[in-house]
Amino acid sequence: MTCATAPGKIILFGEHAVVYGRPAIAAPLSQLRATAVVEDSPTPGIRLLAADLGTNILLDEAAPDDPVAAVVRQLQTAAHLPRLPDLTITITSQIPIASGLGSGAAITAAVIRALAQHLCLAHLSSDDWVSNLTYEIEKIHHGTPSGIDNTVVAYERPVYFVRQQPQNRIEPFAVAQPLRLLVADTGQSSSTKAVVGDVRRQWQADPAHFEAIFDGCGRIARQARQAIETGDLTQVGQLMDENHRLLQEMTVSSAALDGLVLAARAAGALGAKLSGAGRGGNMIALVTTAGETAVTQSLYQAGARAVFSTVLASTSPIPDNEI
Ligand code: PMV
Repeated sequence: MTCATAPGKIILFGEHAVVYGRPAIAAPLSQLRATAVVEDSPTPGIRLLAADLGTNILLDEAAPDDPVAAVVRQLQTAAHLPRLPDLTITITSQIPIASGLGSGAAITAAVIRALAQHLCLAHLSSDDWVSNLTYEIEKIHHGTPSGIDNTVVAYERPVYFVRQQPQNRIEPFAVAQPLRLLVADTGQSSSTKAVVGDVRRQWQADPAHFEAIFDGCGRIARQARQAIETGDLTQVGQLMDENHRLLQEMTVSSAALDGLVLAARAAGALGAKLSGAGRGGNMIALVTTAGETAVTQSLYQAGARAVFSTVLASTSPIPDNEI
């Protein structure tokens, strides 16, 4: 039996604009994880079990676009294996689905890692491969993914990310003062693919307006990186507020998200914004240790279905070229 896990993620700055080549900042949510368990099976075929997704099927019976089946097929192709042994693959996840926390990427990364390790394909369980293969599957979920989700869940590090050719710019960064963040769920699910597609249609209809919004998001992400690196939490909070305004202009916020953002600010958060694709899902608020309880209560009073806290702090130093 082989078990592997992968974390959820939050986007601190730059969602949507990152699809159009502007920088973004994201961090793993290590306390919320997807888990994949691979076991040899006494019965023929590869059985995929994911109770949360309502999946209990044999690989051979799965639809061509079934996301879990696609992961197994992708790995089989990458490994050049004409056939796979008889297996049971069981997936569980603590990450709410379709809520901006990267559940799809985390499930994919966990399955790739567990399967690669079980089949002794050491190179395919490396962070690089897990990220690349997850990206291929993200295309099924997202249409035009930027690559930030697969990067954060595969490397499990905060990253400053720019989508570019021939290679994405992926940089770890220092966190001078830990960022205490509350993550609050509207309880409304949202399809990343649909929201990303709608932003694209709006951009195509009015490119000048949307390019200006994306430029604003890019400037904010650059300034935010500096503010995080120098420990200026007040500025980080202000930049979150500014980023949320631009996301509202993109029409990807919602009444529920705006309600939680306002409630967090009114209760003393340093800043707040939606996180992920938007139109539902989660928002994040930057809080002080002293202010955390008041903001949490305020978020619940404003209708949050769940609130949890996470701290973004510097991980061990890593050389620039590791990622
Ligand atoms: O909704 P999520 O958690 O999958 O985040 C999507 C982030 C976007 O910037 C909207 C899309 C992308 O591929 O970067």
